[in-house]
Amino acid sequence: MKALVVYESMFGSTRTIAETIGAALAQHGSVRVVEVGTLLAEQGGDTVTHDVDLLVVGGPTHTFGMSRPSTRAEAVRKHGAVVSSGGGVREWLDSVRLPSSISAAAFDTRVGTMRLAGGAAAKGIDKWLSRLGATMISPPTSFMVKGMTGGLLDGQVTKAREWGTKLGLAVT
Ligand SMILES: Cc1cc2nc3c(=O)[nH]c(=O)nc-3n(C[C@H](O)[C@H](O)[C@H](O)COP(=O)(O)O)c2cc1C
Repeated sequence: MKALVVYESMFGSTRTIAETIGAALAQHGSVRVVEVGTLLAEQGGDTVTHDVDLLVVGGPTHTFGMSRPSTRAEAVRKHGAVVSSGGGVREWLDSVRLPSSISAAAFDTRVGTMRLAGGAAAKGIDKWLSRLGATMISPPTSFMVKGMTGGLLDGQVTKAREWGTKLGLAVT
């Protein structure tokens, strides 16, 4: 089994989840975990090759959905340096080509408290991957953070490990 995990992250929480999912998937085959800006800048980064069995895509929820250049700029304005400064999942999905037989799954991070709660980027990523022809092997899945920059809530890394294992088992 060969898997590709693509993530976007401003403050590091989504990166932690992506790396945890990648480590769980590595029990089932070979895995590349890659930050989306790296892929956007890479020659051939807009094509997922036919040998990839599973594509997992995740990003932070911004203004009820996937980030946009304006929400990423707001994150930089409010908090300084960010992980994904070279584009987001939305831009990558807009240009990517997938093999017809690929399995996929979408995840996001979002705030679990009332004040900022709302929306889930994973739903948009899931729809987009389906439109591109991927077979979705899991419902879109959210991992909760403590606030914009507060880090992951307790239990979310364990949840990511379990989710990654489930995905790995589903494609092997
Ligand atoms: C501009 C902006 C808008 C946000 N809007 C939402 C939102 O609508 N709903 C939500 O649950 N969280 C929202 N958040 C919180 C992010 O989901 C949170 O910062 C993210 O999950 C942290 O992941 P990261 O460390 O990988 O960036 C927003 C954050 C930013 C910076």
